[in-house]
Amino acid sequence: MATGPSITFLLRKLHQLTGIVPLGVFFLVHMFTNSKALNGEAAFEKAVQEIHDIPYLLFLEIFGIFIPLLFHSVYGIIISSESKTNVFRYGYARNWFYLFQRVTGGFLFVFILFHVLNLRFGLMPGLNMTPVAGNADLSYQIISAEFSIPWVMAIYILGIAATAWHLAYGVWLFAVDWGIVIGEKAQKYALYGCIAAAIGLFAIGANAAAAFVRPCGLLPQGLCEKPKVVTPAPPRRV
Ligand code: HEM
Repeated sequence: MATGPSITFLLRKLHQLTGIVPLGVFFLVHMFTNSKALNGEAAFEKAVQEIHDIPYLLFLEIFGIFIPLLFHSVYGIIISSESKTNVFRYGYARNWFYLFQRVTGGFLFVFILFHVLNLRFGLMPGLNMTPVAGNADLSYQIISAEFSIPWVMAIYILGIAATAWHLAYGVWLFAVDWGIVIGEKAQKYALYGCIAAAIGLFAIGANAAAAFVRPCGLLPQGLCEKPKVVTPAPPRRV
């Protein structure tokens, strides 16, 4: 009697797929929006306001980000708890990458929780108490104040590094598992491409973070637009 694919097989495939779409795509868009800080406060706040103006935003956030993120994280933890590490017996690079995929996944679970409470909701005790959600006009100042605290900046840099690696290596695992990249040589070159993508993504994300504490981030300031001065609205005449 013919049987369909097992539920575990389908959950595995869904886990891989959610890592790419929507979560991977969200991360690329997120780093693009953050990079607008390179052109100063007004440019970044305009970008945040445009996001806040998207119709049905809450619906999109719940079904497009939070539910896929919850499924991907919880199922990722289940997979990790079932797998065995063999890096100490076989020190091949791929075994280390396999271990690293699980370590970055675990770290990201804690980091994303911290980050969303810290910036989106303004609910991290001892840190910023103003949510960026609904306060686009204060968003640059909120993030700038947070990133001026060295340990907070360090956590964000680690979060960006972990996400860049987790996504890029996840794309490689996906391409191999779904039969998109076949053959040893093709897989080797695809892996080099993904490592290069991880480094590129990290550089873009880290530079965006730096742009909240220094105009134009780590780049020479001539490469960015001259930041527009944000002037408060004049008081209304009664
Ligand atoms: C330069 C570093 C980063 C900055 C400045 C930043 C900024 C922000 C801000 C301001 C929000 C709230 C958006 C709003 O309410 O309008 C947010 C939400 C979020 N960020 Fe980041 N972020 C950074 C890095 C990351 C990284 C590395 C991840 C990992 C995937 C991440 C994942 C998220 C998620 C899942 C949300 C919630 C999405 C939502 O509220 O719709 N962020 N981020």
